[in-house]
Amino acid sequence: MQLQNVNTSRYLEIENDILKRGIKMSNNNIQDIIDSVLPQISFKSNKVLISEIGDGNLNYIYRIKEIGTQKSIIIKVAQYESRISKDILLDISRSYFEYSYYSLETVKKSNFSPQILYANPQAGIIVMEDLVDYCSLREALISMKKYQCISDNISMYLRCVLIENATFNPNDKLEKLRYKFRGNRLSELTKQLIFIEPYNNIKKRNKVPAELESWVKEHIYHNDRLNAKVESLREAFENEEQSIIHGDLHTGSFMVNNDQVKVIDPEFACWGPIGFDLGCLLANLIIDYLFHLTNNEEYCLFIIKIIYNILSTFENDLSVKIPKNYKTIMIDSAAYAGTEIIRRTIGIALAKEVSIMDEKGNNIAFRKNLLIIGIDLITNSEKYGSCENFIKRIKKLHVN
Ligand SMILES: Nc1ncnc2c1ncn2[C@@H]1O[C@H](COP(=O)(O)OP(=O)(O)OP(=O)(O)O)[C@@H](O)[C@H]1O
Ligand SMILES: [Mg+2]
Repeated sequence: MQLQNVNTSRYLEIENDILKRGIKMSNNNIQDIIDSVLPQISFKSNKVLISEIGDGNLNYIYRIKEIGTQKSIIIKVAQYESRISKDILLDISRSYFEYSYYSLETVKKSNFSPQILYANPQAGIIVMEDLVDYCSLREALISMKKYQCISDNISMYLRCVLIENATFNPNDKLEKLRYKFRGNRLSELTKQLIFIEPYNNIKKRNKVPAELESWVKEHIYHNDRLNAKVESLREAFENEEQSIIHGDLHTGSFMVNNDQVKVIDPEFACWGPIGFDLGCLLANLIIDYLFHLTNNEEYCLFIIKIIYNILSTFENDLSVKIPKNYKTIMIDSAAYAGTEIIRRTIGIALAKEVSIMDEKGNNIAFRKNLLIIGIDLITNSEKYGSCENFIKRIKKLHVN
């Protein structure tokens, strides 16, 4: 995507010389931001090309390329107004939580995040390494790419960060981080979009096809057992400080190439249940498994293998590091996976796979299968307590 909100003539001016001209971009003084950033990084020339490459809802992502060299950097800018709508206003402190997560010793040591080159979180600015040779894991899975490093790298990341920061084994370093990861206002958004709206459509923002409306009413809105379980998951999300979680660990938060996986976008980082992160990832992998089910069985096996490898390694790592609680965490992960599947199937922010199916016109069976699995993961989560059972049950549940 090139320069959203900026017209071509401005683009050429920017190309000529960004620092000397007082160009005001429509999206809130990007000129000033770049002025403040360039002296902090090692670009020799002040001639740069700027493009806005973000595809998310909340923030602006600018790629700044130095003219004449291959060098480029990424500037992520958080504003009060969200990228998709001036009506959605959000606290800029999300930038502080993102930067704090990237600054964690465990994250830096793990080498699974882009290098941070400069940050001014008060102004909502984070400057980082450009992962120019990577693509989003979500896009890779949609287009059936077979990167072999996915499961090993993700397993290692989960071990080095999520399990390593678990409070079941308290230590002084974690204690010092206690306050740092409390009070992320984006948790309110999680609460609303994951645990509340999909189950009652209170803001009339759910996206349910007409053919599924009565099914959704009966099996989701009026399902008391499901709603009671989701309520207890919400409470656990708000109160259980089991580890520092990424908070938005869907497949779009991983970038991948032939050799390596990187994790981006930890702006939702907070203390929370370990199963919340793993569940989010599993849910989005299951969405891709079902997405390809009718067209490419072989690729589905590839996805199932990723789920199996990540889950079995995680189960093994947990049983070593947190032996008393590992079973409960596996069960929680299944339940949180269910909440993520449901909200990505009928909530305000649909998974890209669901939108693609909508465009193709064969979305009803796909969505229903997703919802059936989502409901089962939540209401029968104890049946998913081991890796073997998890895979068996997911394979058995879909109806076509
Ligand atoms: N360091 C980077 N290198 C290359 N591309 C990046 C980098 N960071 C972000 N991107 C691109 O920008 C996209 C959006 O980034 P990010 O998820 O951080 O934004 P966001 O506004 O927080 O998104 P969301 O609304 O989904 O939370 C990514 O999917 C990726 O394509
Ligand atoms: Mg984000």
